[in-house]
Amino acid sequence: MYSLVVKGGIPLHGEVPISGAKNAVLPILAATLLTREPCVIRRVPNLSDVAFMGRILASIGAKVRMQGDTVTVQAGHIKGFGDYELVRKMRGSVCILGPLLGRLHEAKVSLPGGCVIGSRPIDLHLKGMKALGAHITIDGGYVCAQARRLVGTDMFLGGRSGPTVLGTANVMMAATLAEGVTVIQSAACEPEIVDLAHFLSAMGAKIAGAGSPTVTITGVRELHGAEHEVIPDRIEAATFAITAAATRGEITLRGARPDHFHAVLDKLQEAGARVEHRGGALTIKAGRSLRPVDVTTQPYAGFPTDAQAQMMVLMTQARGISILTERIFESRFMHVSELARLGADITIEGPSAVVKGGRQLSGAPVMASDLRASAALVIAGLVAQGETRVKRIYHLDRGYEQIDEKLRRLGARVQRVVEG
Ligand code: EPU
Repeated sequence: MYSLVVKGGIPLHGEVPISGAKNAVLPILAATLLTREPCVIRRVPNLSDVAFMGRILASIGAKVRMQGDTVTVQAGHIKGFGDYELVRKMRGSVCILGPLLGRLHEAKVSLPGGCVIGSRPIDLHLKGMKALGAHITIDGGYVCAQARRLVGTDMFLGGRSGPTVLGTANVMMAATLAEGVTVIQSAACEPEIVDLAHFLSAMGAKIAGAGSPTVTITGVRELHGAEHEVIPDRIEAATFAITAAATRGEITLRGARPDHFHAVLDKLQEAGARVEHRGGALTIKAGRSLRPVDVTTQPYAGFPTDAQAQMMVLMTQARGISILTERIFESRFMHVSELARLGADITIEGPSAVVKGGRQLSGAPVMASDLRASAALVIAGLVAQGETRVKRIYHLDRGYEQIDEKLRRLGARVQRVVEG
């Protein structure tokens, strides 16, 4: 196991390339199961979650080849079940359920467990599959789905916290091969859903409305192989943008799509940072002073839950009180107690964290609990005085490609060390 040793207090400057989006590539890789023909996916980030998805596809019988940032998958002969112990370990892999059901009319997938950010049920995924005609049973921790025929229908997929991203992806994928027309109401509007729809369309699927709350899928008899380039990762971009403001530096994001994380850029500007677009490049520069801002996480196009922890670190540096309210996942405040170890003054009140900002953080050993909390701890280490040791950074490697390397190129003093 590795830790990241961060020596703080240096403003970061320079240019950073933004990698392909983890949360787009995972359902896209799952979608390759919908055809027996080869699919070529480009701009695939080198992440442990992606490697894991590759192993899951291989365990089902697909041939998976990873070369640089290109992954080729051919799911010639596949089975509806495989090494599902793997599925249990990565929640994102639940999105193989839809493609397996669509192509084979049967699937057996381990129920993903809860995780530190909340209970994370899949009732809405199952509601959608049932609406298409699948018979679902839960047996020994597995979801078993079977359908003689899948038939398109109208369905409402909104839940207590709004739409579901992977639930929408799962149902969309199953519906591509259903008979007739499926209409998903209260569909997730995230850019990752639009990217998946582009890939499915390139495979021959008929999808309209992706990116809006109503997605219409007209089923086809079969899909064919396709090539696709994954969108840039809006959360990685948001993380570096926040890092620029937090370290009082200036970072240019290469290849980012500002229209995909407007809500974050807007809050950064409200907090006093400068955002400049010039010739396709996006530069985030710390302003003269940092102001506290209130943030509420929401489904897209609202402020993303995946950038809440990072934004909280920025707010520890703004003199005054800011309130960050988490509306997507009920326990996504695991980073708060670790930030307190660095000297941050944060109290949790129900779904909100009240940050009294303006204190100088000072380095300490901290423990990463999930992917985005880890990113937040690294940013905190970069602004803290002295040395911060972020333990268990395997969480970070799940979702940030070469983060230590990218930070070093911006001038950060970060070192990956073997945990003692
Ligand atoms: N929900 C239900 N029932 C369901 C599904 C979801 O009640 O059947 C609830 C969840 O408990 C949550 C809300 O709906 O309160 C939204 O969850 P959603 O299903 O949208 O989350 P997800 O699809 O499982 C993806 C990302 C997450 C990201 C969320 C929200 C992937 C692999 N994961 O998860 O990414 O936080 O959407 O945007 O795409 C991360 O990258 O660090 C990460 C956690």
